[in-house]
Amino acid sequence: MENLLNLKSCSIEEIMSLLQEAEKCRQGNYMDSLKGKIVANLFFEPSTRTQYSFNTAEEKLGCKVINFNASSSSMQKGESFYDTVKTFSSFQVDAIVIRSSENEYYKQLLGKIKTPILNAGDGTKDHPTQSLLDLLTIYQEFHHFEGLKIAVVGDIKHSRVAHSNIEIMERLGMDVYCSGPQEFKDEEYRYIEFEKAVEEMDIIMLLRVQHERHEQAMKISKEEYHQQYGLTMERVNKMKKNAIIMHPAPFNRNVEIADDVVECEKSRIFKQIENGVFVRMAALRRSMRG
Ligand code: CP
Repeated sequence: MENLLNLKSCSIEEIMSLLQEAEKCRQGNYMDSLKGKIVANLFFEPSTRTQYSFNTAEEKLGCKVINFNASSSSMQKGESFYDTVKTFSSFQVDAIVIRSSENEYYKQLLGKIKTPILNAGDGTKDHPTQSLLDLLTIYQEFHHFEGLKIAVVGDIKHSRVAHSNIEIMERLGMDVYCSGPQEFKDEEYRYIEFEKAVEEMDIIMLLRVQHERHEQAMKISKEEYHQQYGLTMERVNKMKKNAIIMHPAPFNRNVEIADDVVECEKSRIFKQIENGVFVRMAALRRSMRG
C-alpha cells in the first residue's frame, strides 16, 4: 500500500515514473487493470475536476466507486472526520481519496488507517494530483523541465496549487516566479512584476482568488484585479511565441482571465483537465499495486 499525500515525499524518479505511466494511460493502456478494487471518494470540500476525474479514472481502471456525500452522512449527527474515514477503511475498500479544507488532515490518520490514502487537496498546503497534471501538461509541451521560466500569478498565499507546484517545479530545475497583489503575497517566494512576467515567461500560470479561505474581503475590486493582473488578449499578444497559459480552474472569467483568453491558442486549461484523468489513473495504480 502506498499513500500519495504530497509530492515533497516523492523522489524525482518517482514523479517521472508517474508521468510516464500517466502518458501510457493517455495512450489507452491499463484499462480495467484494477478490476474488482473498490475506491471511496471522500470529498469534505466542493470539487468538480478533482472528484469527477478521480471518478472517471477509477471507472477506466475497472474499479467500483463509492462517492461519499458528507451532507447526507452521519457527520450531520456529529460524527467526526477521523471516525468517518476509519469507517470506510473498516469496509475494507482498497483506496480512499480525500479532500479536506484542513491542512495536513492526513497526519491524524497515519498509522491508524491501513487503507492507502490519495490526497485530493488539503487546505492551503498540497494538491499532489493537480501538480502531476500540471507537470504532464508542461512536459507534453516542452519535453523537459530544466530552465523553463514560469510565473504563478494571483492568490499565492491561499493556494495549495501554488504551494504544491512551486516546491516540485524548483526541484525539477524550473525557474519559478510569483506575481500578484500585495495582499496575497507569500514572502517565501521570489516575485516579478506582472507585465515583465507576461513578456519573459514560458508559462503563465493563473490562479483563482480563493475567497473561501480569506479572513477579510479582498482589498482591490474585481475590476481593478482584472486591470492590473488579469490576462487579457492585449497581454497575451505580448507573450513569447511558444509560451503557454495554464490555470487549475475553476476560473473567474474577466477577473484573473479574460473571457476570450480561456480557450485561445496559447491556453492549455482544458488540456490540463484532460490530463487530470490520466495522472489520477497512474496515482491509483501506484497506490493499489501489489
Ligand atoms: N483544480 C481543482 O482542484 O478543481 P476542483 O476544485 O473543481 O476539483
